[in-house]
Parts: sequence; structure tokens; C-alpha cells
Amino acid sequence: MQIIIVKDEVEGGQEGYKIFADAKKNGAHVFGLATGSTPITTYKDIIASDLDFSDSISINLDEYIGLSADNDQSYNYFMHKNLFNQKPFKTSYLPNGLAKDIDAEAKRYDKVIEDNPIDLQILGLGRNGHIGFNEPGTSREIGTHRVSLTQSTIDANARFFEREEDVPKEALSMGLASIMKSKHILLEAYGAEKADAVKGMIEGPDSADLPASILQNHDNVTVILDEAAASKL
Ligand code: GLP
Repeated sequence: MQIIIVKDEVEGGQEGYKIFADAKKNGAHVFGLATGSTPITTYKDIIASDLDFSDSISINLDEYIGLSADNDQSYNYFMHKNLFNQKPFKTSYLPNGLAKDIDAEAKRYDKVIEDNPIDLQILGLGRNGHIGFNEPGTSREIGTHRVSLTQSTIDANARFFEREEDVPKEALSMGLASIMKSKHILLEAYGAEKADAVKGMIEGPDSADLPASILQNHDNVTVILDEAAASKL
């Protein structure tokens, strides 16, 4: 893992942007994208740049089950607001959280990922070490799947909702095996509340209890941390 420590997420955003720009220059065509507050500064720098994704494909990591694309808490809405409206991609894929048959939707999504191997995947990090919505204990072998969110994740995401009971309890997430197939993985983490997960991911045992520790087995991972997130290393 290549670890880059920055002062704050603004500087982290610039570093993240550079990795996107380099990937693009080197022919990357399929970009795996993430939601959450973490990638926002990178997306801002991408928007401010002259990078052009109109020939590229994006594949998002996850989506809440039960929220429509026009619900302002859905990840589909988030991606349009924070990136796609300003930087459209040729095609953008997200799981459909309103699909009637969630298992069929998961299979469809796996086929999308198989047909479009991801060149660069950006990730945030859950406080409990989750990536995408792969919560602790998730099998490393399964593909896109239905997830029951842990209380820790519901609590962390409650800040985006008016009432805690509005936070969806389930999501559809790309699996760890798919994430690991990405050619290059960029994980960003900011803030002291991520410090334990960061330590476990980098120094801890490679264990399903801390899903991000699987990245120890990937040979092309870049991690961008602010000083607070890196404080326990
Ligand atoms: C959510 C998302 C993850 C994200 C994590 C951290 O659970 N499914 O993809 O990495 O939260 O969010 P944040 O970046 O807001 O700290």
C-alpha cells in the first residue's frame, strides 16, 4: 500500500484528483465510484478540472434499498449532485434500490462489473472498517448482495437524515471480491473517528472482522489519510 498523509481533506482531494487525472492519462476507462462525505473534495477538484469523462464508464459501489433515484438521500441523487451533473460520464451504473427482485438486480450488477472491469476504484472507509456496504463478517467470496446495515453504520449515516428512523436499514452493495478485481484502488479516510479502522486496515490482521483489511492482499492500493485518521499508525 502506498500511504499519503495530508493536512486535511482539501489537500487529500487534490491528491485524489491527481490519481484520477493520471489514471485517465494512462487510458483508464472504467471508474468505480463511492459516496459519503469522504470523496467530495476529490469530486470537487475533478469538477473544477478539464478532465473529460464523456467517453468513460462509472460504476458505483452501493445504494440504499427502498430509496428512489430522486430521493435526496439516495446515492443516485448524491452522485448527480456531487459529480455527474457537472461531469457526465458516457454511462453511469448504480444498483437500483427499488428493484422488485433484489437478487436479480444483484446478478444484473455483477454482470455490469464483469463486462466493464474497473480500472480505478475510489473508496471511503466506514468507522467499523466497512468498504462499500460490506459490513464486518461479510464473506469475501460473494458478489453484489443485499446487506442489513449494522447499528454503527446506521448511527454514522443518521447525520444525513432528518430522523434516525428514516435511515434505510438495508442496502445493495458490490462485493469485496469485485472491489479486489479493480486494477487500482484509492481509499481516502479523514478524521479521528476513522483512526481505529485505518490502523486495522493497514497494520491489523487480515480478517473479515475488518473488511478493509482485505486490501492488504491487493498490489496496487493508494491510501490518502489526514493526520487525524493516521494518528494511530
Ligand atoms: C457509507 C458508504 C461507504 C462510505 C462510508 C463512509 O456507509 N456506503 O461507501 O465509505 O459510509 O462515509 P463517509 O465518507 O461519509 O465517512
